[in-house]
Amino acid sequence: MSSKLAEKGTLLPTTVPETKRRRSSVVRKLHLVPLLLLALALYKYSCIHHFTGNSADLSEEVKQELCPQPKPLSPEKYVDLWESMGKQYETQEFQKKAIDLLSGAVQIPTQSYDQMQPVGVDPRWDAFGPFHDYLLSAFPNVHATLKVTKVNTWGLVYEWEGADETLKPLLLAAHQDVVPVNPETVPEWTHPPWSGEFDGEKIWGRGSSDDKSGLISILTTVESLIANGFQPTRKVVLSFGFDEEASGVYGASYLAKFLEQKYGENTFALIVDEGGDYMVEFGQAYATVGTAEKGYTDVRVSVTSPGGHSSVPPTHTTIGILSALLVHIEGNPATPKLNRGTPMYQKSQCLAAYGADMPKQLRNALVKAEKSDKALRRAEKALFQDRKFKALVGTTHAIDLINGGVKTNALPESAYAVVNHRVATDSSVVEAWSHDTATLQSVAHSFNLSVTAFGKQLTDGSASAYGTLTLADAWGVSLEPAPITPSRGDDAEPFRLLAGTIKSTHNAVRGISGDNNVIVSPGIMSGNTDTRYYWKLTEHIFRYGHNWSGDRGWLSRGAHTVNEVLYLDSYLEMIRFFTTLILNADESTSI
Ligand SMILES: *[C@@H]1O[C@H](CO)[C@@H](O)[C@H](O)[C@H]1NC(C)=O
Ligand SMILES: *[C@@H]1O[C@H](CO)[C@@H](O)[C@H](O)[C@H]1NC(C)=O
Ligand SMILES: [Zn+2]
Repeated sequence: MSSKLAEKGTLLPTTVPETKRRRSSVVRKLHLVPLLLLALALYKYSCIHHFTGNSADLSEEVKQELCPQPKPLSPEKYVDLWESMGKQYETQEFQKKAIDLLSGAVQIPTQSYDQMQPVGVDPRWDAFGPFHDYLLSAFPNVHATLKVTKVNTWGLVYEWEGADETLKPLLLAAHQDVVPVNPETVPEWTHPPWSGEFDGEKIWGRGSSDDKSGLISILTTVESLIANGFQPTRKVVLSFGFDEEASGVYGASYLAKFLEQKYGENTFALIVDEGGDYMVEFGQAYATVGTAEKGYTDVRVSVTSPGGHSSVPPTHTTIGILSALLVHIEGNPATPKLNRGTPMYQKSQCLAAYGADMPKQLRNALVKAEKSDKALRRAEKALFQDRKFKALVGTTHAIDLINGGVKTNALPESAYAVVNHRVATDSSVVEAWSHDTATLQSVAHSFNLSVTAFGKQLTDGSASAYGTLTLADAWGVSLEPAPITPSRGDDAEPFRLLAGTIKSTHNAVRGISGDNNVIVSPGIMSGNTDTRYYWKLTEHIFRYGHNWSGDRGWLSRGAHTVNEVLYLDSYLEMIRFFTTLILNADESTSI
C-alpha cells in the first residue's frame, strides 16, 4: 500500500519548466512526508485492526505481541531416554502399575479439616501414618535414592542430589491431604470415595484428582527416571504438605521455613505446584499456568448499641443496623477492572490471539485493548458476562458468617458478621479494607454510630454516639495477592521452559508436531495453594498440573464434591509432563 502511494508521488507533469519542476518536486516531496506517515499508519492499522475478526487473519507478529509463545522444548542430551520412557509409558504393564499406584493412594483417607489442633494434639493427623507407609513400599527407588526429611511429623521433603551444586534446584510441590468426604453424600458416589476403583477409563475417589494425582505422578516419574538410570545434574526437591485444604498452617508453612533455612531466599530455579487449566477454550487447546494468586481477607463487621427490654424497642436494634450495613456492602461492591499487565488480561489476550471460536467483536476489542482504553472497557464488559471470569479479576465479597442476639425478649447489645474478600491480583488487603470503611461510614453516621476501622478511631471517641461500628481483620490471617511470576521479557526464562515443556509433552502424547497445538497462557485460579508460603524461595512460582480435561471442562473432575475422578489418559500425560519437565530443567542453561 505504501509503495503505491510513493510511486504516484513521483509522477511529475512534463510541461513545467526545469526550475519550477525542481522546486515543485521538493514541495511535492515535502507533501509526501505526511502522506507516507499516513500510509504507514494505515498499513499498521490494517494489520491490527482491519482484520475480519478471525484469529487466522491475525499476523504471526501480532499474535506473538498479544500472547508470546515459545517453541516446544524437548530434551536434547537425554532425547533417547525421553523417547524410550515415553514408549514405556504406553505399555499396558506400565499403565497397570500406574493405576495401582494412584488407586492405592486414594484408598488411604488423608482428610484434613478446618481448625484442626496442632500435630501431636489432634489425633486426626494420625491418618497420615499409613499414607507414609504406603509411599515407602510403593516407591522403593525413590526411598533408596532420595533423602527424605519429615517436617512437623507429616510434611515430606525429598531431596535428589544433582551433580552440579551451582545450579538452582527445581522444586515440585503437591499435597497429601484431601477434602473431607461428607458421609451423607457417600450414597451419591458412583464408586465409593475411598475405593480407588478403575472403570477402564477413569480412576475414582477422593483425591484421585486433587491432589494425589499430582503427588503420585511426581513420585512415579522419579521412580521411573531412577529405574532408567537417570542421575540429575540439577538438584530436584519435592515438597509435600498435608493440610493444603485447610490453609497449610501446619504443613506448607513449616515446609517453607525448613526450605528457607536450608537453602535461603531466592534459591530455587522454579516451583511447580498443582493448579492451572489445560483444556479447550474457544475451539483451541489452552494450558493456563497460574502466575499469581488472589489475596484473602476476612473482615469482621461488629455493631453495638444499648440493650434493654424488647417491649420498649428503639427504631433499629443492633441486628437491624447490622443488616442495613450488610445490605450496603452487597449494594456497593468494589468495581472489578481488567487492567493491562494482569494475568487475567494476558489470558484474555491469548484467547483473542488464538481462540478460533471467539466472537468477532470481542476479539476486535481485545486486539485493540492494548492501545485503546475504550476498546479495553468494551472487552471487559463482554468478558464480565462470565461470572467466573469477573470474580477472578476483581476483589470479591461474600458475607459468610453472622451472629447476634441471645433471647427474644432482650434487645441485642452486639451483633457481627464476617465478610470474606478475595483480593484482586493488582490490589491489596488494605485497599479492600479501605473500600469497606468508605462504604460503611455514611451508613454508620446515619445510625449515629462511632466508627473504629482496623485499629483506627474514625469518629471522636467521646460517648456522644448511640452505638459503635468496629471493622477488624477477623482472624489476623489476611493474605496479600501473590507476587506475579514473570511471563514476558528477560526475566521469564523459567516460564518459557515450562511453556516449552507443556507444548512438547502435548505433541509427544498425541504424536503430532507444530508449535501452537496448545497455547500456553498466564492466568490465575480461584483458590490458593500451598505456594502461598513459598514466595521467598523464588519469584518463579507456577501453579500448573498438566491436568487435561479437553472440552469436558474442569468441573468434570469432581474436585471437592462427589464423584471425583481422574481420566487415565490425563494421568499418563501428567507423568509424561513431569518427566519432560525434570529432563528439560536438568539440561537448561538459562534458568
Ligand atoms: C447520638 O447519640 C447520642 C447518645 O445517645 C445522643 O446524645 C446524640 O444526640 C445523638 N446524635 C444525633 C445526631 O442523633
Ligand atoms: C487437577 O485438577 C483438579 C481440579 O481442578 C485440581 O484440584 C488438582 O489440584 C489438579 N491437579 C494438579 C496436579 O494440578
Ligand atoms: Zn489441591
